[in-house]
Amino acid sequence: MSQSFDWRTPFWGFASGLVMALASSAVQAGDAKVGQALAAPCALCHGVNGISTLAEAPNLAGQPEIYLVEQLRNYRSGKRSHDVMSVMAKPLSDADIDNLAAWFGSFQIQVTRPN
Ligand code: HEC
Repeated sequence: MSQSFDWRTPFWGFASGLVMALASSAVQAGDAKVGQALAAPCALCHGVNGISTLAEAPNLAGQPEIYLVEQLRNYRSGKRSHDVMSVMAKPLSDADIDNLAAWFGSFQIQVTRPN
């Protein structure tokens, strides 16, 4: 009976479980190149440059990735509702959303503020 209890054993089990839980709940970084291919139908309203061609559609270029992910998930779940966007977001998988957000989020935008 010389085996002593090592307090670190359960601690590391708990800590690594916590890290994994946090990692899986975080937004996964999408692949912008894959997103580019998925974004073809979006260009009709949001523009090929992410600057909208339709007055009612917001610009997507340079929006924070995390914001775009959240909005697309909200359209898909019904938390945010819009005639067009609810339909557009419905078939998107989590990976599609991450990739689309990575694409539009990687655009560089420049703003000129009026004086
Ligand atoms: C037929 C036009 C149309 C198409 C196609 C379209 N959108 Fe939209 N999108 C809109 C309009 C209009 C809104 C504003 C909706 C609202 O008021 O909630 C919008 C809103 C959004 C928003 C929210 C932006 C913000 O600032 O909150 C995101 C993100 C978005 N669209 C992504 C996409 C993606 C990705 C695609 C392609 C898969 C796409 N849209 C295709 C018209 C379109």
